[in-house]
Amino acid sequence: MGVVAHISKSVKTPLLEVKGRNSLSGCIEISGAKNSALVLMAASLLTEEKVQINNVPHLTDIEVMTHILLRMGVQTKRQANSLFIDPKNLHDGVLPEKLVHSLRASFFCIGPLLAKLGQAKLPLPGGCKIGLRPVDQHIKGLRALGAIVEIQENMICAVLPAKQDRLKGTNIILDCPSVGATETILMAASLAEGTTIIRNAAKEPEVQDLVAMLNLMGAQITGAGSSEIIIKGVNRLNGCSHNAIPDRIEAGTFLIAAAITRSTLLIGPVIPNHLNAVLFKLKECGCAIEEVGKDHLRIVPGELKGVNIITQPFPGFPTDLQAPFMALMATAHGKSEITETIFENRMQHVLELKKMGASIQINNSTASINGVSCLNSNSLCGGDLRSTAAIILASLAAKGTSTIKGLNHLDRGYEFFEQKLNLIGANITRYFNNSPSEIVSGCEPTKQNNLVTKENAA
Ligand code: UD1
Repeated sequence: MGVVAHISKSVKTPLLEVKGRNSLSGCIEISGAKNSALVLMAASLLTEEKVQINNVPHLTDIEVMTHILLRMGVQTKRQANSLFIDPKNLHDGVLPEKLVHSLRASFFCIGPLLAKLGQAKLPLPGGCKIGLRPVDQHIKGLRALGAIVEIQENMICAVLPAKQDRLKGTNIILDCPSVGATETILMAASLAEGTTIIRNAAKEPEVQDLVAMLNLMGAQITGAGSSEIIIKGVNRLNGCSHNAIPDRIEAGTFLIAAAITRSTLLIGPVIPNHLNAVLFKLKECGCAIEEVGKDHLRIVPGELKGVNIITQPFPGFPTDLQAPFMALMATAHGKSEITETIFENRMQHVLELKKMGASIQINNSTASINGVSCLNSNSLCGGDLRSTAAIILASLAAKGTSTIKGLNHLDRGYEFFEQKLNLIGANITRYFNNSPSEIVSGCEPTKQNNLVTKENAA
């Protein structure tokens, strides 16, 4: 059964049943990074030649983005984990609000559309369950590059000024190091006339991955991974074949799965440097972690104690792992404090963790946690992608059997989540229509996933 079946069935409000307290062992294979793949798909619009992106995970977010590209005349074909994109018939046209709202990353298309076609019209991505998430920095960047950008009734319209066929390079200082805004400006400035400098740029690995692909396409960009990125605009970009980086957030989630179940696991492939802040905190709370080969990590949890976390832009502790780490701290010995600084509404897992017996007090954006010796199973519901993952991890450690709804969030961002966990000893079943008599296996791991369970697989 392929991923498409999984996605179409997931509209029937599936739930997971997680039997807790199983010990895990073996190796988990990490998929390609969702947040890279999405922006790389948008970047492929910048050329007229074919682009091949490898290591693209099977996720509903990727399916939606594929749909969006199709609406703009772009052909895509998937073969295993490779996505082939042919953008030669790219045209503008208004994307349906529903599609854009279901995938904030669709807004990435604004930069390439403007640079390539001279105009772009998109519905505003709107709010989001984890916060307001404005796009003012994207707009500021595009305006600085010379675009005329107007917002009319929830639509954003961007055009080049009359008699101008390219954006113009400039200096841009972002008010905050927004990942999305840095990526929008990078794509737009790649084809601009002259040089653009982005100051206070985001340093995230996904930004670096985008720059790696753009440079493969013939762009001239330096400084990715630092706060100052320099883009010398070029006349045209060519096609390429590029491998998306491994998903550091998925890797971090499975490292935390190992820690919360007190299990030894091997995890890879990863780029260890992308995980430094997470590894540092896992070690501080009592896990031993060693590199195995150049791209695998072995985690051996010991007695765990509470540690404090403050989410920060890269290379700080990632906001996307705040919820899973809080689940871990709920089971660690002693007190910890977790402060969320990136998104204003990213504590949706707290209520669910408390239903399981976690001791957590919220004060503004800081959660104070007192570790308990045992979490209890419950009937739970995930409110966003990372909080759904967090409560599944908590359920793995809890006494009894939990049921979890909100899998539409999970399927957006974790490829074969429960299948990967089951292969290393978890006991998770996906039910459809909320009826245990209608068990459907969901998407089976396919050969292309190449899942491995043996420790020596690295
Ligand atoms: C990306 C990731 C998301 C991750 C986040 C932070 C993708 C598809 N998503 O989201 O998983 O959690 O980075 O690492 O790559 N902001 C503004 N104005 C703007 C843009 C952002 O004020 O124009 C604010 C946001 O409200 C937020 C902060 O900046 O408070 C960070 O947002 P940003 O880095 O842009 O995150 P995304 O690109 O949306």
